Amino acid sequence: MSSERAASLSRPLRVAVLASGRGSNLQVLIDRIHGRGKVQIVAVGSDKPQAPALARAEAAGIETHVFATADFGGGRSERDAAIAAWLSGLGVELVVLAGYMQLLGPELLERFSGRVINVHPALLPAFPGLDAVGQALAYGVKVFGVTVHFVDDGVDTGPIILQEAVALPNARTREEVFDALHEIEHRLLPRAVGLIADGAVAPDPEHPRRVLVR
Ligand code: GAR
Repeated sequence: MSSERAASLSRPLRVAVLASGRGSNLQVLIDRIHGRGKVQIVAVGSDKPQAPALARAEAAGIETHVFATADFGGGRSERDAAIAAWLSGLGVELVVLAGYMQLLGPELLERFSGRVINVHPALLPAFPGLDAVGQALAYGVKVFGVTVHFVDDGVDTGPIILQEAVALPNARTREEVFDALHEIEHRLLPRAVGLIADGAVAPDPEHPRRVLVR
């Protein structure tokens, strides 16, 4: 990603965001980095027609589209192929999963190889998949956290870009953990997108799982 990006630093990175829910992470991307020269969010997609994230995008004048699995007779692969075609047509260079609660298959990941990132509410590799915060609470951990990582063909297994921990030794509810984690996510995700736009994120040639951040 970084060498391709280095060749085109003079223009904004064309970013798409996929989101299934509230869209608070999308909102910070819109408020903090969209349209300021470095990053242009050109598309917001969702699997949920009622996702508040779509309204946030529309309010910012960003093109939106709903890809509900039920609308694609053949299921996930047809849906992912349609998303990939839509994003390619818009010249998207980076896809950000911000609370997108569907797994992505090869129809999209191969077309956007190394160009899809995700924010996950746990310190990976601990607690991948659904309800990460619930899993962490059930385990009884004292330290929670957030990971921003590249997406590969596993479930939350791709190389880690940024990670931050928070000690919450007495946490009992998802709400109190999410209060702390959202504050971290809202700093980490815009930072990761900005670093990618700057061409400052690259795989370590000596270790493909390690991501170098300048
Ligand atoms: C975020 O906490 C994000 O980490 C989580 O969904 C939330 C979306 O919040 N993502 C996952 O759990 C993905 N496995 P938002 O809609 O307010 O941005």
